[in-house]
Amino acid sequence: MRPIFRINTPSAEDLSSFHRDGFVVYPAVFSDEGLYGFVDEIHSRRQVIDFFKKNKGEPDEHGMNVRPWNNKGPWSDQLFDAPLVTALLKAIIGEKFQFCHSTMHIKTRGGKGVQAHMDHHHWFHDNPVNIAERHKWYIQMLYYPNGFKRDDANLSVIPGSHQIIPIPGKPPHYNTLEEMMDRVGNEHGGRELKVKHFELPPGSMVCLNARTYHAVTPKPLDSPQDYRIFCNYIFKEAGPPHRHTQAIPSEWLEDVSPKRQNLFDREPYTDVCWE
Ligand SMILES: [Fe+2]
Repeated sequence: MRPIFRINTPSAEDLSSFHRDGFVVYPAVFSDEGLYGFVDEIHSRRQVIDFFKKNKGEPDEHGMNVRPWNNKGPWSDQLFDAPLVTALLKAIIGEKFQFCHSTMHIKTRGGKGVQAHMDHHHWFHDNPVNIAERHKWYIQMLYYPNGFKRDDANLSVIPGSHQIIPIPGKPPHYNTLEEMMDRVGNEHGGRELKVKHFELPPGSMVCLNARTYHAVTPKPLDSPQDYRIFCNYIFKEAGPPHRHTQAIPSEWLEDVSPKRQNLFDREPYTDVCWE
């Protein structure tokens, strides 16, 4: 199996952008073979075949959303611990990190956007475990195998917004990132916050601190791109479950390497796990 990415380690500059802005972007980081293989593998997943059989290219505001995404092939399997992923997690978190869950999404023309939000769930609950875990790392590796253009299911973020202390216990609901800044202020950590709208080529990756505020624009009915593929692999600092920390399928543990055993050796989320 050939490497899925062109690079194996983040540069010092990548890590300083991550800490300064709350994310680092890797445009077109997939290798040619990795991108071809990964896209082909996604198109061969049962849920994707079934979705397109039903959808037939019609506008659909929901699209396809798989969480947790378990039926992986050899390319998506690499995303648990490709050298670049492991190097980023080690540089950011240290030695003790775990896999939380992964997801796969297809957004078609007419697909709804995603409102402004951040994803560090321990800030939205007030149990002692949530309070104790709030400042621990929660990292999302976002993959865009066929890329996206501006105003066409584009990811937007607010660089530096990982510094905002959310109002604990209240999941924030903001329609837009601009509305979020109107409510919480647009200066944090001595820096003026501004929304950044991305446009990314096929095979791009964004490594996001889950406390960074982000949103996704809708996919217009006249989008020149038939559909946009998005996959998300989420990792957490070792400790109790996050919301959505998934149960590990038994087949993932057969002949598992010690490195991967460490990633998978944690408790899944249940309705009572924080009580
Ligand atoms: Fe999110």
